[in-house]
Amino acid sequence: LNDLAQRRGKLYFGTETETWEFNDTTYLSHLNNVREFGALVPGNSMKWEVIQPGRYEWNFTLADQIVDLAEHNGQHMRCHNLVWHEQLPGWLVNGTWGKENLTAVMIDHVVREVTHYKGKCYAWDVVNEVLNDDPNNGTLRSDMWLDIIGPEYIAIAFEHAARADPHAKLYYNEYDIEFKGPKHDGAMKVVKMIQDAGVRIDGIGFESHFTPSTAPGLQEQMDCMKDFTDLGLELAVTELDVRILLPDSPEELEQQETVYVDTVEACMNTEKCVGMTVWDFWDQNSWIGPLTWDLYYNGYGEADLYFANWTRKPAYTGIESALKHR
Ligand code: G3I
Repeated sequence: LNDLAQRRGKLYFGTETETWEFNDTTYLSHLNNVREFGALVPGNSMKWEVIQPGRYEWNFTLADQIVDLAEHNGQHMRCHNLVWHEQLPGWLVNGTWGKENLTAVMIDHVVREVTHYKGKCYAWDVVNEVLNDDPNNGTLRSDMWLDIIGPEYIAIAFEHAARADPHAKLYYNEYDIEFKGPKHDGAMKVVKMIQDAGVRIDGIGFESHFTPSTAPGLQEQMDCMKDFTDLGLELAVTELDVRILLPDSPEELEQQETVYVDTVEACMNTEKCVGMTVWDFWDQNSWIGPLTWDLYYNGYGEADLYFANWTRKPAYTGIESALKHR
């Protein structure tokens, strides 16, 4: 799929991955195939709790393995993420912070992590999911960053990421902004806020975790992309997957294909959409499904391009022919 996407002028078709998945040889052979995947993004191992588990403790071992693999295979890296409200270490969440020392801690984290991977990340998700979950509420999420530092934490994070790696593309990554509504508009305001602060922001990430019944259609996705590229940004589909209600049926798999293809087409039709990343490609290891049913979307699954038995889904062949025949 990467080969086809690149022939059509995109920078990459990529996938999320994690080091524990490298143990499966079939998985690894797909992952290492640059004609299939031209970019990798770690699902967890670049997050704060992993990288800086203690105030003065840094651990890049897991993420380094993914970056080394990408380098070896000639794949781009999407680096994910620097400042988020989830997967934070206990010392940070339970600390007593004032505005000044929390800002210093955040800057320190951003600068050290970006510096460690300087020159190796095509893009950084500098801030992640800064808006409230509810798509009908377009306001900033109340979390430790907003509550203690204030909305300026966002521009400060971008400013220091830019300082630490002048060549990495700096992204704001968000979900439920792929369709029109208050959250989509709120994300545009966030971009303008960063730009008004005179700070560099290069890109917007459309996560695109969809279900057939709620996914926006092709035109709506394209319109939403245009809203952001009109602000001067490049764009990427960053976490594409389409979960379905189990057990599956031929109809559902066909609807799933439509959603995958619409999303790929929206990116293909948007010049400044540089690439697409699926949030893993094998049902067996997906963050949605039996493995994590106690945690996420009980009853949903089969969100990825390959069934657990490695058969390609209609979604896979649909994307393939969309990339070939348009
Ligand atoms: O590492 C612990 C393990 O020690 C423990 O035994 C186990 C029991 O629950 O949990 C393990 O941690 C899990 C972690 O993934 C590592 O596997 C967490 O519970 C689990 O919540 C965490 O889920 C990750 C999720 O982010 C957290 O919100 C998913 O793997 C990851 O795919 C997902 O990725 C996010 C993006 O970063 C941002 N956008 C949404 C996307 C999907 O939620």
